Amino acid sequence: KERTYIMVKPEGVQRGLVGEIIKRFETRGFKLIALKLVHATKEHFEKHYADLSTKPFYPGLVKYMASGPVVAMVWEGLDSVKTGRTMLGATNPLASAPGTIRGDYALSLGRNVCHGSDSVESAEKEIKLWFPEGVVQYESSQAAWIFE
Ligand code: GTP
Ligand code: MG
Repeated sequence: KERTYIMVKPEGVQRGLVGEIIKRFETRGFKLIALKLVHATKEHFEKHYADLSTKPFYPGLVKYMASGPVVAMVWEGLDSVKTGRTMLGATNPLASAPGTIRGDYALSLGRNVCHGSDSVESAEKEIKLWFPEGVVQYESSQAAWIFE
């Protein structure tokens, strides 16, 4: 079982895309094990995007992400990190395939609607950062119908 951190960005919340994004992960067969709506601080996003701190767009990215509430989630399943990234589509929505979240709902790089962890290690780090209280453990009754 692998976990990934998925986050609806401020524009996704404002545009009413939270349900659409949750629905895609639910219907794909992933199990929701943590969820919250949070208006996080710049300091929190500086940690979240620490690996991008040398990039010229970093200050603007951090400021924007802290400008409104986001929806933080953890989804569990098979190969969740890579599959999650595939479901999001390319970083630049102009290059995202139709059928992906960004390819269906976004047009610009800085407003690409949704974040997804880029490796298993960053997923673990992001889950700890956003859910220090831990995730929820429960059995999904669907598992037997999703996994062979
Ligand atoms: P996330 O899932 O949001 O982490 O996107 P990503 O992993 O596909 O891209 P990356 O981590 O490299 O960048 C994080 C976010 O910064 C992207 O989703 C974009 O919104 C933004 N970003 C990335 N590159 C650029 C850039 O060259 N210019 C600007 N303005 N924003 C960028
Ligand atoms: Mg990233």
